[in-house]
Amino acid sequence: MSTRVAIVTGGNKGVGFAIAKSLCRKFDGDVYLTARDESRGKQAVSELEKEGLKPLYHQLDICNAESRDTLAKFIKEKYGGLDVLVNNAGIAYKLNSNAPFSEQAEVTLETNYFATLAFCQTMLPLLKPGARVVNVSSRVSTSALNASSAELSGRLKSISSIEELTCYMRKFIEDSKAGSHTEAGWPQTAYGVSKIGVTLMTPILQKQLEEDGTRPDIVINSCCPGYIATEMTSFKGTKTIDEGADTPVYLALLPPNTDIKGEFVTERKVQKYK
Ligand SMILES: NC(=O)c1ccc[n+]([C@@H]2O[C@H](COP(=O)([O-])OP(=O)(O)OC[C@H]3O[C@@H](n4cnc5c(N)ncnc54)[C@H](OP(=O)(O)O)[C@@H]3O)[C@@H](O)[C@H]2O)c1
Repeated sequence: MSTRVAIVTGGNKGVGFAIAKSLCRKFDGDVYLTARDESRGKQAVSELEKEGLKPLYHQLDICNAESRDTLAKFIKEKYGGLDVLVNNAGIAYKLNSNAPFSEQAEVTLETNYFATLAFCQTMLPLLKPGARVVNVSSRVSTSALNASSAELSGRLKSISSIEELTCYMRKFIEDSKAGSHTEAGWPQTAYGVSKIGVTLMTPILQKQLEEDGTRPDIVINSCCPGYIATEMTSFKGTKTIDEGADTPVYLALLPPNTDIKGEFVTERKVQKYK
């Protein structure tokens, strides 16, 4: 049987680093710790090697199409397909950032929504039967959904295609640039809206995979790792990165024929947000 393979995006630090570490211990196959910066990625790999683990490194900037395609080609040629994908890479402006809201909207959605989706779509054709995909979203996605106007929130919750979801994500950026996002019903959080996109894309992609029907038992879920002490939270989070890795890794290793598909999960529990 061919070697199984897992990819973690944004694996050089924070929750992604802990996910890569845990997968090295629990996943029966090769684990690629990817990072956009080679020296930071290789440094992280050598830290795990000191613990006796054997992660592999590959460069990946999820915002760069060439970088996404290079990794996909490499995985296809070396492994013939992919068994586990953890879309962990993400960014957040600090709460006290002076950057204009419209800039925060555009830059945050570019990474967290558009690039995550693009990498997912690049890798979906490579998923092997039984593959598991985990989109690291946030609880902030559900609070931001609820903080949207009732009308907008209702519309977002009923979206059934990636095209429609992408139109709404673009509209948020346009409304932010026009200074009319509040009037249009959006919450005052670019990060929250980007993660609404991540949480909502998940059941749509799950349905697409099921309708495709050619490869059985492929499962994609989103999750929140919890409030974790990382650079993103200025190390104010109350949980460790290893605790943050727990739910993503649980989802990455869900057993065959699991019922947990297209869901949003926190602390290993499916959350109803619609
Ligand atoms: N920490 C929390 O409390 C919390 C709560 C809910 C959800 N999350 C989510 O958990 C995930 C990890 O967050 P974290 O707290 O571990 O953040 P972090 O410590 O800031 O790490 C973020 C990781 O993403 C990488 N990254 C950013 N942009 C990238 C790109 N374009 N291509 C590839 N990698 C990129 C970073 O690489 P560089 O080092 O090169 O910048 C870094 O490795 C994120 O999706 C975040 O939204 C975190």
